Amino acid sequence: MDFSIKTFDAKSAPSAHKAIKTGCIVVGVFENKKITPAAAGLDKQGQIAAALKSGDISGKAGTALLLRNVADIAAERVLLVGLGEETDAVAEKSWQQAAQAAARTLATLGSNDAVLALPAVKDRDIAWSVRTAVLAFRESIFRADALKSKKDSAAAGVKKIAIAVAAAEATAAKNALLQSVALANGMDLTKELGNLPPNVCTPTYLANTAKKIAADYKMTTEILDRKQIQALKMGSFLSVTNGTEEPPKFIVLKHNGGKAKDAPVVLVGKGITFDSGGISLKPGAGMDEMKYDMGGAASVIGTMRAVGEMKLKLNVVAIVPSCENMPSGTATRPGDVVTSMSGQTIEVLNTDAEGRLILCDALTYAERFKPAAVIDVATLTGACVTSLGHHNSGLFTRHDDAHDKLAAELLAAGRQSGDTAWRMPVEEAYNEQLKSNFADMANIGGPAGGSITAACFLERFTKKYTWAHLDIAGTAWKSGASKGSTGRPVPLLTTFLINRAG
Ligand code: BES
Ligand code: MN
Ligand code: ZN
Repeated sequence: MDFSIKTFDAKSAPSAHKAIKTGCIVVGVFENKKITPAAAGLDKQGQIAAALKSGDISGKAGTALLLRNVADIAAERVLLVGLGEETDAVAEKSWQQAAQAAARTLATLGSNDAVLALPAVKDRDIAWSVRTAVLAFRESIFRADALKSKKDSAAAGVKKIAIAVAAAEATAAKNALLQSVALANGMDLTKELGNLPPNVCTPTYLANTAKKIAADYKMTTEILDRKQIQALKMGSFLSVTNGTEEPPKFIVLKHNGGKAKDAPVVLVGKGITFDSGGISLKPGAGMDEMKYDMGGAASVIGTMRAVGEMKLKLNVVAIVPSCENMPSGTATRPGDVVTSMSGQTIEVLNTDAEGRLILCDALTYAERFKPAAVIDVATLTGACVTSLGHHNSGLFTRHDDAHDKLAAELLAAGRQSGDTAWRMPVEEAYNEQLKSNFADMANIGGPAGGSITAACFLERFTKKYTWAHLDIAGTAWKSGASKGSTGRPVPLLTTFLINRAG
């Protein structure tokens, strides 16, 4: 799918839309038979008004109606999309639903190209509209058919989408378009990696993907194998790999877009390519979904792809500790005590709380980059899904000025990109739940506040820098009939990095 920006002279709009030559022009209509200025500009003969009057389209957000042979216009077709109630500036949700409705309809149209001429959004700039449109269209054509012998056919449909913007906004829109396409490409990679089965998407597969990105975007990469991980004394990470034959990988991918002396942002992604629970085996139902337990890694790698394509002027380091969590005669036992790279000892009371065991060593490793900030991303706890459902990722940081500022940046990036997070507490009272009688800490804190005690565990390994943790257990993938990776939180992370690059 090919996107472009089409500029028009705001003074002559909306009548300028009449002259736009395209297979299909998409314009908005409201409820109560009201129409947008762009639609009015195409409606010399009152055909659009008549369609509304007849009730063929209600104008509710997400509705759509295709018209042919509209008089006195250059476009072959007009697609009306509902924007909800009439206002000076359309609500975000309605605009997004209209873009999705347009994507759905255009996907099966016998036209090669289309122009999107939708109005401005309340409290949002042109970059928001461009990104929302690109992501809606790209989401509508995404197929998880890499391993199907018969591909879902996507032959028909519009291939070229132009977004109409006023001339004054052309530069901002073009810039936003480049970033949005890079973001969509990053999300697609994240989704592909997530959806691949665990017998294909192994730690080695993730490492090879990182190598490929490094080659494509002039990044540098370091892939550490078991021996090198042992040399670093990552006893906590390695304890998770004890039960599997599959070789672990510790992946480091660096984008050097900023000045050499600038402190990098470090992204750490949980890369458990399958989480059976280990000896603390998970129940069977839905266990296949634990292939998504590398969602943090996939989002970090997808974000790096986006960063590379955008040539972001920022130093970014991605770190992915990756392995399987499996039971066997050599697997770690509940009760085992392991020594992390930091020297802190951990009593493994539950081998299913493995994410924190691999992340803690990666967080210690991150110290060497003297980072501006470290953000870890992990499908860490079922408890986070209980707390926040599937709408918000959980955001955890310490509570001081530097961390409040980082949290505010991340929350804002989430709102800006529609990939939201919600802040949770990281407090001493929860930390006490991790007390062990036999080691410096236990790897679980009991059933209460499970996502918070997990964050408290990680916090103990992050004292040397500014740190945030995103628990994406509820947001990284969907279950049920529409099972599949969502590509989250690539929009949040990418937007955060764009904002940091200034
Ligand atoms: N990968 C899981 C978390 C998870 C579970 C994400 C379900 C999404 C859906 C993680 O490794 C895990 O098993 N966590 C345990 C922690 C518990 C043993 C303290 C959990 O959440 O049950
Ligand atoms: Mn687990
Ligand atoms: Zn896990």
